[in-house]
Amino acid sequence: MDGFLVQLGDDASACETYMKTLLDREDGPATQLRNAMAYGVLNGGKRMRAALVFGAARMASGARHDAAPTEAMLRTAAAIEFLHAYSLVHDDLPAMDDATTRRGKPSCHIEFDEATAILAGDALQTMAFEILADPRTHRDAAIRIQLVTTLAKAAGLQGMAGGQMLDLQAENRPFNLAETQQMQMMKTGALLSCAVVCGGIVGGASAKLLAAQTAFAQHLGLAFQIADDLLDYAGDASVMGKPSGQDADRGKAGFVALMGVDEARQVAQRMIADANAELAPWKNLAEYMQNLATFAITRNS
Ligand code: IPE
Ligand code: IPE
Ligand code: MG
Ligand code: MG
Ligand code: MG
Repeated sequence: MDGFLVQLGDDASACETYMKTLLDREDGPATQLRNAMAYGVLNGGKRMRAALVFGAARMASGARHDAAPTEAMLRTAAAIEFLHAYSLVHDDLPAMDDATTRRGKPSCHIEFDEATAILAGDALQTMAFEILADPRTHRDAAIRIQLVTTLAKAAGLQGMAGGQMLDLQAENRPFNLAETQQMQMMKTGALLSCAVVCGGIVGGASAKLLAAQTAFAQHLGLAFQIADDLLDYAGDASVMGKPSGQDADRGKAGFVALMGVDEARQVAQRMIADANAELAPWKNLAEYMQNLATFAITRNS
């Protein structure tokens, strides 16, 4: 696991540096908006989605686990991390989770103000699509359209935004297991799956590998949100860099609320075993992705 954590750190900093370069190129009169965007995105997340893009792409192209990411991989990872950062900036707003810290610092709307945070989320989202649609991401326009469509579906009505709507509604009426699972797949699983699938696409995955990566990502997506809810329940806010216990106090739906800590933990472990089994035929080529899946449920932040 040590070697894996070093690689994850290297991948996270490669993505961080590239995102900074992209934002540094942006200027114009709306300096406050640009600063709020940078604040919302360049603040040391785990960069799991970036690592999933890199891992899936390396696996598809047969590259080593420690191969430097190509520009296509960096741009794809940056786009998905921008989209994810937007989802977090909006998730923390008073109208949503009303959370005052994120990644160890005041949330974007606390550091700036609510209106600026809403606009920063909006502009991070559109920038994600601008990055994918640019020929520097891939010279084949058909691939670029595939990336744009995959991200749009993962982010919108059927994906993250739809899942966040269900998450809010779940505060007012109890959700059963099937509804909870669907909500979690949409709000969190969709974007994680998108990272894996877009990585596969950029790396030129065969149809067979892409199908296995998609199945892997679906199990991973659900397990990731169960782990997040377990952290909300029992994690250390100072390590997580965001509030703990707040969602549980508000009666937000989740696997932990439905089945308790022990069973939720077991379900997450089973899902990661299922995820990793999907990639087992690829043997050592799959190792980094499998470690990422295990990390998703063993992390403490
Ligand atoms: C948190 O995601 C929000 C969820 C979708 C559960 P991460 O745990 O990946 O947050 P960062 O990017 O590392 O801050
Ligand atoms: C958020 O789920 C999922 C998103 C789409 C942002 P949470 O509300 O549990 O995420 P955290 O715990 O605030 O990061
Ligand atoms: Mg939320
Ligand atoms: Mg939240
Ligand atoms: Mg949470």
